[in-house]
Order: sequence, then structure tokens, then C-alpha cells
Amino acid sequence: MDRVHKILNQRKIPWLQRLYLFLDPGLKASLFLKKPKCPSHSMSFAAGILVEAALAKGLYSREQRHREPGLMPLPHAKIESYRIFDAIAGRYDVINTVLSGGLHRIWRRAMRLSLPKRLNLTVLDLATGTGDVALELIKNPHVQKVRGLDLSKGMIAKGRDKISAAGLSEKIILDVGDAQKIPYSDASFDAVTISFGIRNVADVKLCLSEIYRVLKPGGRVLILEFGLPESRVLRSAHLFYLRHILPGLGRLLSGHATAYSYLNQTIEEFPYGAAFAELLTGAGFTDAQYRPMSGGIVHLYRGDKP
Ligand SMILES: C[S@@+](CC[C@H](N)C(=O)[O-])C[C@H]1O[C@@H](n2cnc3c(N)ncnc32)[C@H](O)[C@@H]1O
Repeated sequence: MDRVHKILNQRKIPWLQRLYLFLDPGLKASLFLKKPKCPSHSMSFAAGILVEAALAKGLYSREQRHREPGLMPLPHAKIESYRIFDAIAGRYDVINTVLSGGLHRIWRRAMRLSLPKRLNLTVLDLATGTGDVALELIKNPHVQKVRGLDLSKGMIAKGRDKISAAGLSEKIILDVGDAQKIPYSDASFDAVTISFGIRNVADVKLCLSEIYRVLKPGGRVLILEFGLPESRVLRSAHLFYLRHILPGLGRLLSGHATAYSYLNQTIEEFPYGAAFAELLTGAGFTDAQYRPMSGGIVHLYRGDKP
């Protein structure tokens, strides 16, 4: 297909180029995708065609990283990210449910089920936000206590309200603090979790070394983070969603001009899968593993402190 494109570009035959671009999606679909047999396959078949059409029309490319104009550079944006969470704390849970289509519950549950199989666990949840992970982890009968840490006072305040409404203030304690400078002593937790937070941290290696420090020997780190699907069609569709739908939808739901404008960029630039598992190994964790979920848009990582 690329050769056809190249030849048409070289020969400079605009009407033929236009015709090719028009035919391209359907052609590709009929060549590479099987004819759908049920309604849900028809939907993904149609989505595949739309994505290919967008690609052919140059609306976006798979390789080029995409960012909206006028945004601050990413490292600076990461340092400041907690301020954005302060601003949207009141709406965060609703936005999270809408944007993930409710899947965040399944992802958190998978995290809880991956806790070490031991009794009397003390768990630290970093970048805890409004405390949903902490509330999920405490459902494990072997979890005695959860501490949550987050830089955003607004998110912590919202989380404390939820925890007190659930009558769990004795078991879950939330503090304001930095995941890169964890304010707890060495070897004090059986597990450390961080869900959709490590991507926002400015120095990932520092954060991982801090996690390692506060884990007891034999303790486990569990990390949920966004990634990109392996499947070509799913990956294209997801990139299209991240770049062209999510920023506007996020703006609409949060009422904040740029809160969701960085998301696609941070996801596209963040290592995932084997690359992130290598970072865990580099930080000293053994048996570093990852599990793609929901087609690969999210990965669950785990590593053990020897
Ligand atoms: C996308 S939210 C995730 C919240 C929650 N873990 C969840 O899964 O819903 C990211 C959180 O990371 C927090 N955060 C960003 N940088 C941080 C840092 N250096 N230390 C602690 N928290 C941080 C933000 O304040 C925000 O609450």
C-alpha cells in the first residue's frame, strides 16, 4: 500500500491521488480485515475503516507524537500536575468513570487480587488521589491498614470524606506528600501500589527507589498505568481517541482548560510493557512482570523486593 502511495506522490497526479485516498480505507479493510459476522464485529470493522480513513487523510499519524499548541513543556507540566488535580478534585471521580467507561473498577480489582498472599498486610497507596484504590485494597480481609499519599490537598480532602463516610477512618489514613520523597521509614510496608500516578511523577527512577526503600524484604510493588494496544487497529483507534476526543471531552467534563490536554502526550511518551518492567528490574525488583488489560490500554505491573 505504501508503495502505491509513493508512486502516486512521485507522479503527482492529484485526481488519482484523491481517488486512491478515497478508496484506501475500504481497500485496506477488505484486504486486511475479515468480513464481520456479528454486530459487535461490524462495529469494530466500521471503526477500523474510519481510523484508516483518518490515517489516509493525514488527520493523524501513528508515529508522530501529538500535542496541542500552547501547552507548557511536559517536565514542567508534571511537576505542576497536582495543582490541576486540586482544581478538578470535586469532579475527578465522575470524570474517571466516564472516561474509562467504568473499566477503572476492573483495573483496581486486578490490583487488589495481585496483593501478596500473606496475613496482616500494611499497604501504601501512592498518588492515592480520592482514595479509590485504598478503598478497594481494604476489601482484602488480610489488609490491616492502608496509607494513602498524594501531593494534592484537594484530592486528599475528597478522599478523606469518602473514607469517613464509609466508616473506614481507622483503617485508611491519607496524608499529603510526595511519592519521590516518601515520608515513612525504611521497610515499613508489605505492598506499595500506585495507580495512574507514576506517569505524573517528574522523576520515575527516584520514585521507584523510594518505593523499594519503604517496602519490607519480600514486599511487592503493584503499578497500574496506561499503555498502548499491540493490535494495529486498536492502537490507531485508541490514539485517535486520546488525541482528538479525550482532550475536548475532558475539558467539557472538568470545566478546566488543559486538565486533559497532557494525557495523550504523557501516555505516548511513557514506557510501557517490557520497557517499564525493565525499569522495575533496574530499581532492584525481582520477578518484574506486566499484564496488559482492556486490549493493552492499561498495564498492571508487579515486582518483588528480595
Ligand atoms: C490520575 S490521578 C490518580 C489517582 C488515583 N490513584 C486513581 O487511580 O484514581 C494522579 C494523582 O497523582 C498525584 N500526584 C502527581 N504527582 C505526585 C507526586 N509527585 N507525589 C504524589 N502524588 C502525586 C496527583 O495529585 C493525582 O491525585
